[in-house]
Amino acid sequence: MFDAHLYPYENGLFAYFRDATEQKKYETELSRLERLNAVGEIAASIGHEVRNPMTTVRGYLQRFTQKAAFKEYQAQLMLMIEELDRANNIITEFLSLTKTKTNQMKLCDLNMVIRNLFPLVQADAFRRGNTIELQLEEIPEVVMDDKEIRQCILNLVGNGLDAMPKGGKVTIGTAQLGNHVVLTVRDRGLGIPSHIKEKLGTPFFTTKEHGTGLGLSVCYRIAQRHKASIKIETGPEGTLFYFIFNTVPVQYLSSNSL
Ligand SMILES: Nc1ncnc2c1ncn2[C@@H]1O[C@H](COP(=O)(O)OP(=O)(O)OP(=O)(O)O)[C@@H](O)[C@H]1O
Ligand SMILES: [Mg+2]
Repeated sequence: MFDAHLYPYENGLFAYFRDATEQKKYETELSRLERLNAVGEIAASIGHEVRNPMTTVRGYLQRFTQKAAFKEYQAQLMLMIEELDRANNIITEFLSLTKTKTNQMKLCDLNMVIRNLFPLVQADAFRRGNTIELQLEEIPEVVMDDKEIRQCILNLVGNGLDAMPKGGKVTIGTAQLGNHVVLTVRDRGLGIPSHIKEKLGTPFFTTKEHGTGLGLSVCYRIAQRHKASIKIETGPEGTLFYFIFNTVPVQYLSSNSL
């Protein structure tokens, strides 16, 4: 993409072209983050207010499950509790978009984080008739909030699994590239159409019937807190998400609220 500037002068026209691709990318990234900030602030203020009454309702429902008088409504009561828990999880995820959330940054072995998570994602993939493969290279330790990174991997792998029919494979990889440690999640789905690509990371944007559209916004927010970046390569052969960490840790260690 080029910016064109035309300056008329007495003998003609002076034309000046400037490559604006990087600038455009930066602006897109900035507006994505601004959208996230606005949503994060709303989330923080209403999240707690919604949660309190839900906790009360859940408490009573739990008590009713133990009362003989409600014996014949056991199944419905359990369903109500499950639905409340589901709503609560959505709020938890939504709250993790808030800017002020404190996180626990420390030096971690990313490969170890992935290996520990592997049985969980493998079980999920298995249930859907897919598989997960690890391609972990030797990497230095990275400063991170391991809980958040785990969440990110779960969200990206979940999307990868959703994007493929049975028999598909998601590959989780790590590599070192200069000053960066790169976490990759690759699927063999049909890719992300370009009109959708622009909207990725917008809270509640989903194309799935049962999706909440929060998975990627959470990933972008986590990347921002880690001063990491997310890059996407996508095409008819599948999608590859890169989560790119810097390996220069000093500034993270001095503050735990970014
Ligand atoms: N690997 C992928 N392949 C194809 N499309 C994808 C992929 N990852 C994300 N998308 C598209 O981006 C949308 C948003 O993803 P996101 O993870 O934020 O929400 P979701 O998966 O729809 O819901 P959830 O909140 O349950 O994660 C998806 O609905 C899907 O259309
Ligand atoms: Mg998702």
